[in-house]
Amino acid sequence: MARITASVYTSHVPAIGAAIDMDKTHESYWQPLFKGYEFSKQWMKNNTPDVIFLVFNDHATAFSLDMIPTFAIGTAAQYTPADEGWGPRPVPVVQGHPELAAHIAQSVIQQDFDLTIVNKMDVDHGLTVPLSLMCGQPQAWPCPVIPFAVNVVQYPVPSGQRCFNLGKAIAKAVQSFDADLNIHIWGTGGMSHQLQGPRAGLINKEFDNAFLDQLVADPASLAQKPHIDYVREAGSEGIELVMWLIARGAMSDVNDGKASPKVAHRFYHVPASNTAVGHLILENA
Ligand code: DHB
Ligand code: FE
Repeated sequence: MARITASVYTSHVPAIGAAIDMDKTHESYWQPLFKGYEFSKQWMKNNTPDVIFLVFNDHATAFSLDMIPTFAIGTAAQYTPADEGWGPRPVPVVQGHPELAAHIAQSVIQQDFDLTIVNKMDVDHGLTVPLSLMCGQPQAWPCPVIPFAVNVVQYPVPSGQRCFNLGKAIAKAVQSFDADLNIHIWGTGGMSHQLQGPRAGLINKEFDNAFLDQLVADPASLAQKPHIDYVREAGSEGIELVMWLIARGAMSDVNDGKASPKVAHRFYHVPASNTAVGHLILENA
């Protein structure tokens, strides 16, 4: 049977991708940030999964205001990197897992979540920066990826509670896939940041660290936080953090009454561009 063994959480700041691509990771501004991911790259090598289920948000790259799916699952065989701003990153094409993705779509839709099925999609920094942070600069990504896009850009956005419940449904879907696959689920985006308006540059270390504490120890309570609290305390783009609750909702303490996950790694750094960077690796008990 397929099983989720770990979850990974990380910010996706596009300037991090540009620093990697332009060989600036050893500059004094960036060095402390990349040091925080050294453990993670080794951990990925030691614990390479068969598939990554990668929860991320598109930034008007694949979806414009013409069409705004709340939750979209990628069922394609591959996904081409694209981006706004710096342009497409020079990173490998992302290979999908159409069979598992189609199975998860079937199961999760039958569990009453209305997913949009996406058979063709370019993927932006929301997906490629987390892959670069965790995997470095390989010729090919180490395993197939199922991209799962969440609308956190254009209101109305889904609640933390709905995201947490969706994570539970994804866990159930994975458990009913009849193949021996080791799967990681990633929640990406965040932490506190606001990119426009009078509060541009807002970073809230206290909020971010309390979020990390609660995500580990009491995600069911964290799921009740209303979206307006994210916007007020973590900035307009801080709402990206609800995506972390999808990954956390898929862990085995939530679904199978297992013990709390092991915190394999925790890292927090301010700033990267306009954003606070947070990162966790949780292993199922
Ligand atoms: C920045 C952060 C983001 O999450 C994003 O999507 C774009 C820019 C930033 O901090 O510059
Ligand atoms: Fe973003």
